[in-house]
Amino acid sequence: MRRLNRRKTLNLVKELDAFPKVPDSYVETSASRGTVSLLAFSVMAILTVLEFLVYRDTWMRYDYEVDKDFTSKLRLNIDITVAMKCQYVGADVLDLAETMVTSAEGLVYEPVIFELSPQQRQWQRMLQQIQNRLQEEASLQDLLFKSAMRSSVTALPPREDSPSEPPSACRIHGHLDINKVAGNFHITVGKAIPHPRGHAHLAALVSHDSYNFSHRIDHLSFGEILPGIINPLDGTEKIAEESNQMYQYFITIVPTKLNTHKVYGDTHQFSVTERERVINHAIGSHGVSGIFMKYDISSLMVTVTEDHMPLWKFLVRLCGIIGGIFTTTGMIHGLAEFFVDVICCRFKLGVYRRPEVSVFSDPACIHCSSLTAHF
Ligand SMILES: *[C@@H]1O[C@H](CO)[C@@H](O)[C@H](O)[C@H]1NC(C)=O
Repeated sequence: MRRLNRRKTLNLVKELDAFPKVPDSYVETSASRGTVSLLAFSVMAILTVLEFLVYRDTWMRYDYEVDKDFTSKLRLNIDITVAMKCQYVGADVLDLAETMVTSAEGLVYEPVIFELSPQQRQWQRMLQQIQNRLQEEASLQDLLFKSAMRSSVTALPPREDSPSEPPSACRIHGHLDINKVAGNFHITVGKAIPHPRGHAHLAALVSHDSYNFSHRIDHLSFGEILPGIINPLDGTEKIAEESNQMYQYFITIVPTKLNTHKVYGDTHQFSVTERERVINHAIGSHGVSGIFMKYDISSLMVTVTEDHMPLWKFLVRLCGIIGGIFTTTGMIHGLAEFFVDVICCRFKLGVYRRPEVSVFSDPACIHCSSLTAHF
């Protein structure tokens, strides 16, 4: 009984065989079909290689969602050089929460020379060129994301010479932890002193004529510092013609989660619009001279993910290529054979029909002779 059952199922499975074996005597090969097969195999090989290249390639996917993290602090990284002596300038942050982040916490004031050394100048030129290219081609940003961590060109190299002149500029660098609300980072004359209603800068001791807010931004970023990422303001240099100049940068920060094969991190992209004007109360241009960076944080968060084709998709596509080419070439060959047959046979018929008598007398034609014998 059990044996019978097994034989039944075996027969059933046999019925399902989609690859019935064709006896060798039925298999016929021809030169034309061989050529077509060779062509098909070549096309297959080329397409497989191309498909493999696509499989190896990666691309950036951008996803947007609402940023729910409002409680954590945001780090502001800055490296800026102002053409004024350190004792005359002060930097601090004022935000909507009305809390003042005093400059003493994370910023270092370092007396330097404003002019760059030749090597540093070269580095800055390169940075500015990259910035220009970035504005023209957005796809370059993807490349930078991909190559992040591979390079670390984002820091200004140290001076290679030791100049004799005394330092007359001030390099303010370091980081500040700011609240995730809109705020204002500024550098103005005088050190900031806390005040019950906001804050004030002690500027009385500095003469107006000695103001010079020419500045160079070597680095400005928010969040984690990722080497290889170039921020929009890096490499900016502004030379003030007048002493009472006001520079404003309006910054919109977009939190960005970077998730590539090489780097995983929270960073913040930002866009900037700039404005500068001369403070002259006589002509109605009021304000305070200095460098002001107003920032606002977008509530949308961008997740940048480096994507690639999964292996299963690659295999499915490979099967598609191989099967598809086999079937298609088979069909095309069949069609071609059919047309060749039609044209050929018409032609042959024409040849044979003309000398009607000689058909019967042709000794080579066995069929014909048997036909005549029949008659
Ligand atoms: C400010 O300093 C820069 C660099 O040293 C200089 O080129 C510029 O002329 C100065 N501007 C004023 C108004 O003194």
